[in-house]
Parts: sequence; C-alpha cells; structure tokens
Amino acid sequence: MTIHHIAVVGAGTMGNGIAQVAATTGFTVTLLDAYPSALEKGLATLKKSVAKLHEKGRLTDEQAAAVERLRTGTDLAGVGEADLVIEAASEDLEVKLKLFRELDRQARFGALLASNTSSISLTRLGAATKRPEKVAGLHFFNPVPIMSLVEIVKGLGTGNGTITTLVAVAEKMGKTPVVVNDAPGFISNRILCPMINEAVFALEEGVAPRESIDTIMRLGMNHPMGPLTLADMVGLDVVLAVMEVLHRDLGDDKYRPAPLLRRMVDAGYLGRKTGRGFYEYDQKA
Ligand code: CAA
Repeated sequence: MTIHHIAVVGAGTMGNGIAQVAATTGFTVTLLDAYPSALEKGLATLKKSVAKLHEKGRLTDEQAAAVERLRTGTDLAGVGEADLVIEAASEDLEVKLKLFRELDRQARFGALLASNTSSISLTRLGAATKRPEKVAGLHFFNPVPIMSLVEIVKGLGTGNGTITTLVAVAEKMGKTPVVVNDAPGFISNRILCPMINEAVFALEEGVAPRESIDTIMRLGMNHPMGPLTLADMVGLDVVLAVMEVLHRDLGDDKYRPAPLLRRMVDAGYLGRKTGRGFYEYDQKA
C-alpha cells in the first residue's frame, strides 16, 4: 500500500511537528484539532519552524511552499480522505480509546490508523476498532523536525503489511524507523522515563541540586540535555503518565513515580509549556 495523504489528529507539539515533516517530504497533509485556538497555535509553530529550516537552507523553496497547501480543520470527518491517520492527542487511555473508535468510523475502508502514543498499548487501541490489523504505533520524538528516530510499534493484532507501509512512510519522511513489539513504554520510554524519574528521586532526596544533576548527565554521559531539562521539554504530565503505565502494567515497584513528580504535576508545573517545571521559563511555549 502506498500512502499519499496523511491526516494528523491533534495540533500540539508532536502533532504540528509530524504535520510539518509530512508536508515538507511530499505527502498531502490534513491537520485537525477540535480546538480552533490549538490549531492556530500549532500552525504558527509549524510555520516558524519551517521558516527557520528554510532560512538555514535545510529545506528547499519547494519544500517550504508545501506548507501553504496544508489542509486544516476542527472536525474529525476531515480524516475521510486520508490513507493514514496519525493520532497525536493527549496521553490518556480513555481519550485515545474514544478517538480510535471514532476514527474507525470516519476513516475510509483500508486506511491505516497510527498513534504517536508514548506508552499506551497499541494492542488495546487496535482492539477498540474493527481493523486491528491496520493499527500500529508511529512514535516520533521531540522536536520532531530535528530528531531522526521513529519507533514503530507492532500490536498483537497489527498486520505485517501495515508495518512494511509505515517503515516506508518513515523513510520517506527522512527518518530512521525501528520496529518494536507492543509492551509498556515500548523501548524508548521503558528506558528514558525511569532515568528521568530517578533524577527526580535524587533531587527530592537532596543528593544534588537540579543544575548539578543535569550537568553530570550532560558532561558525564554526553547527553545533549540533562534529565530534568529534558523532562521540562517533554512535559512532566507525559513523564508521569508513562511511569504510571510502566508501574501498573509491569507490576514492579521499581517503576513507581517519584512523589515530587506527582506533586509538580498536581501543582500544574508541567515544564516549558506552562512556564514552570524543574526550571522557570520566561514565556509559555
Ligand atoms: N524546528 C526547527 N529547528 C529546530 C527545532 C524545531 N522545532 N528545534 C531545534 N531546532 C534547531 C535549532 O534551531 C538548532 O539549529 P542550528 O544547529 O542550525 O543552529 C538545532 O536545532 C539545535 O538546537 P539548539 O542550538 O537550540 O540547541 P541544542 O544544540 O541543545 O539542540 C535539541 C536542541 C535538538 C533539542 C537537543 O538538545 C537534543 O537533542 N535534546 C534531546 C532531545 C530528546 O531527547 N528528545 C526526545 C524526548 S522524548 C520524546 O520526545 C518521546 C516521548 O515519548 C516522551
């Protein structure tokens, strides 16, 4: 199956990044969000990023112009013409189950349904539809236009043909696809989020201040960002949601979320997007 038209559902950080990369690599793209203000904000971010990459010569004139052809909408019926729908809504099981049931109704027969979920079971999302063989994970990384990995997640019911098609889509987007089986947190977040969580425990126990923890991981392990800075970029709510999935679904207390992480999410200190996380930010981003 060849994919020409991609619909992205959710215009937040990940959704607008995915729409940007798809549009600039030759796909017809529809970006949907139920909230007009979120759609507007997502489009503005996307255009700013394209302008930056175009200015640096990393996108051709033709690639940058593709953004002007991007279709947008607030109604899920907008997925109707797509060959592939990529869901990038909130990291919440009930929200995603409801969306997948609706996408199954709205998407055309034969269209693939993918989720950008960070940890939710693709087997479960697939089972909420009448086309589990067409459902898989297409997990991008933030910032999407820069990061080269796409983790492709194969649910128990996912067909091999679906995986072959998604590998080709990721490659056409200029990304490196890696296929993994469905399991809590897949590979990426099974390893990344416990590391971040451990950094939060160390902070809470007073082992070292935030800057020291981040500097140790940056300079000692050559990570581009320290774990607390990275948590602020990913969103503390997302890190907590992933830890809760790992804790519940793997049933091992070594995955329990750090109490400070939970308190910060309760307080609304979600990281860059709210102007405050482990660090403070001038503007809401
Ligand atoms: N659009 C366009 N360009 C962008 C961009 C965007 N959205 N974001 C960054 N850039 C560009 C910058 O303009 C800059 O370009 P030049 O080198 O040409 O100047 C380049 O990317 C590097 O950016 P910066 O100089 O600002 O800063 P940096 O060198 O520290 O790089 C970073 C920034 C790429 C984010 C780097 O710090 C990094 O790789 N951090 C780790 C990111 C990471 O781990 N992401 C995964 C998070 S986990 C996840 O997403 C999945 C999940 O399920 C939780």
